[in-house]
Amino acid sequence: MLLLVGLSTLLTVYIGGKEVIAGRATNGNIAEFIIYVNMLTWPVASLGWVTSIIQRAAASQERINEFLHLEPEIVSNNTEDKVIAGKIEFQNVGFVYPDSGIKALDNISFTVTPGKSLAILGKTGSGKSTIANLLLRMYDPTEGKVLIDNINIEALSLTSIRKQTGYVPQDVFLFSDSIANNIAFGLTDEIDEDKKRELVYTAAKQAVIYDNIEEFPKKFETMIGERGITLSGGQKQRLSIARAIIKHPKILIFDDCLSAVDTNTERKILDNLEQIMKGRTSLIISHRISSVKHADEIIFLDGGRIIERGDHDVLMQKNGEYAALFEKQMLEELEA
Ligand SMILES: Nc1ncnc2c1ncn2[C@@H]1O[C@H](COP(=O)(O)OP(=O)(O)OP(=O)(O)O)[C@@H](O)[C@H]1O
Ligand SMILES: [Mg+2]
Repeated sequence: MLLLVGLSTLLTVYIGGKEVIAGRATNGNIAEFIIYVNMLTWPVASLGWVTSIIQRAAASQERINEFLHLEPEIVSNNTEDKVIAGKIEFQNVGFVYPDSGIKALDNISFTVTPGKSLAILGKTGSGKSTIANLLLRMYDPTEGKVLIDNINIEALSLTSIRKQTGYVPQDVFLFSDSIANNIAFGLTDEIDEDKKRELVYTAAKQAVIYDNIEEFPKKFETMIGERGITLSGGQKQRLSIARAIIKHPKILIFDDCLSAVDTNTERKILDNLEQIMKGRTSLIISHRISSVKHADEIIFLDGGRIIERGDHDVLMQKNGEYAALFEKQMLEELEA
């Protein structure tokens, strides 16, 4: 653009000069025309500028559209809000991750009656989180059925299931917002401020993070994430536990949620959780025996299959993988 403007000035001077020599124009005329050319510089330059902005925006919009036009693979076939009792059943469930082709689960069957707890133990990559994913209907099983209250979850309303489930994911996700808002995330907006604050405080106490938060200069109003402080791994996990239990869900899923806290804090949280889990169906996923031994049933996964099942005493008597892991972890604890 600037080159064109420069050339126009040059041209004006050159042709104007010839005209003046020939006596057909005056020096004033040339000056006049140069001023005209300069007056046109800004509009012409901005024309180019706007064109370039529009082109960049079009490219961005294309990418945004790609995302907006994605069709979710999981569709809710029902919108009815149903209060669930919390019975969970897996019937011969097999699952292959569509994008990697990895067979993560193979012929998994179990039933958890309402109010009882099931613990899932197993090596890394054995398929524990996949069970939680299927229960939350992040994916539909490749084989078999997942049922809640004897109804196939594909026939239940997606929002209804997720509203009544408290989930502590393995990778905690926190928003760039205050601690209080992060904990209150699952609550409906209908609750008034005082009640909300009370619920947040209680949940924080139960998740043994209250004292930590009180130590921050702005307490519950402390911002986290990009605009605020960074929490430690264990603090994040406890905040996520508080977020899951605040809405008093019928089903609780804890995916390895105590891996980053020390054994003392683990004990305290487990004691509190025992109270909270009363009357709620819970799924506890862990690597540590100490987190799972009080569960009503424990299943031991290996390569997507259940290799041992039963409660703590039964599994100890079996003297298999579970007992071996128990001994190893007891030794580690003694050494520490
Ligand atoms: N989103 C995904 N896409 C493709 N493959 C996946 C996905 N998530 C997990 N997998 C694969 O499925 C298998 C089971 O993974 P899963 O996350 O259930 O293991 P896990 O028992 O929870 O392990 P960990 O104890 O490390 O959390 C693994 O082989 C993993 O690579
Ligand atoms: Mg996992």
